[in-house]
Amino acid sequence: MARILVTGGCGYIGSHTIVDLLKHGVDVVSIDNFSNADKRVLFGIEAITGKKVKNYTINLTDVQAVTKTFDDIGHIDGIIHFAAFKSVPESVAKPLLYYHNNIQSTANLLAEVQLRNIGTFIFSSSCSVYGQIKTLPVNENTALGKAECPYAYTKQIGEQMICDVASFSQSTWVSLRYFNPVGAHQSGIIGEVPNDKPNNLVPRITGKSSGRYDDLTIFGGDYDTRDGTCIRDYIHVEDIAHAHTLALNLSREQNTGVHVLNLGSGEGVSVLEAIQAFEKASGRKLDYMIGPRREGDVVAVYADKNQASKLLQWTPNPSVEHMMSTAWQWEVNMASGKSFLGKDYSIENFHL
Ligand code: UFG
Repeated sequence: MARILVTGGCGYIGSHTIVDLLKHGVDVVSIDNFSNADKRVLFGIEAITGKKVKNYTINLTDVQAVTKTFDDIGHIDGIIHFAAFKSVPESVAKPLLYYHNNIQSTANLLAEVQLRNIGTFIFSSSCSVYGQIKTLPVNENTALGKAECPYAYTKQIGEQMICDVASFSQSTWVSLRYFNPVGAHQSGIIGEVPNDKPNNLVPRITGKSSGRYDDLTIFGGDYDTRDGTCIRDYIHVEDIAHAHTLALNLSREQNTGVHVLNLGSGEGVSVLEAIQAFEKASGRKLDYMIGPRREGDVVAVYADKNQASKLLQWTPNPSVEHMMSTAWQWEVNMASGKSFLGKDYSIENFHL
């Protein structure tokens, strides 16, 4: 049985990936310092899979803590590296925080891969590495444009670090460029946990509908798109999670070297269309206003997903309504204390 270290294993995509890995017979150990995660996620993972996951609470930028933890963990076949700061606007406001955290942690992990000859390294990258895109859908051979924000630049640097290290290694390296992961686990037991007020569209939509947030503003209604709002490629978090399980198979098939894959559904959806999909999925009308553009936003981006479909045998579900319905179920479960299987979760000010 393969044994895999998942960094950021208690975060949004990390926790869904751990569930998928466990379901497919992979043994998992996690590192997460809960800087943007909730400890009760570990209960949720256990409730869904019947398996306990050991988590090491360390900061990955601390090189001594990393070495000590790897010594303690012992043999692993691969690393899936999610742990990173991920907010576009926060990275614009606090660039050094992003450069330090995202780059140093990746460097420390790459050093361990080299030192211990770890077979596979899977990196959470992002479609933000493409910058403003001229030709859509975007494929992996497209030259990377100027990063629109420090967060995107840390992902470009992470990918470059991997290429530099990979040129003299026998490992399998996979950079997965996520488009916009949304939704929650179909069980309703785990999902995205809002620490502070989130910046992302879908938790803002569900939070507005539940009454957790007062307002919902569309950032810009005057873009050169079919309805004036930005276009994104929303992809269900369980599909993203499963792609990691599939990516692990690459090393078993002797695919050494670097593989760069887009993880998107391949469909461009506007902000207004996403709101309509939510209204249809939930049966609830949403109040929103159209405000100014947000700094750091690209106008439109959606994936050419052919490479990932072919190499991973991956078939994501493009239904935005399905994504919205699981996101809404998660919001309802958080409000009623059913998330994490009722482990003492309560958020005030819900008005469902
Ligand atoms: N949006 C609104 N109102 C909101 C929140 C978002 O109109 O309250 C709009 C944004 O302007 C954008 C779209 O909804 O047009 C999606 O915004 P998100 O913040 O949900 O997602 P982004 O595309 O900005 O960024 C996300 C992740 C990044 C990642 C990027 C690409 O947050 O970490 O996808 O991978 F880099």
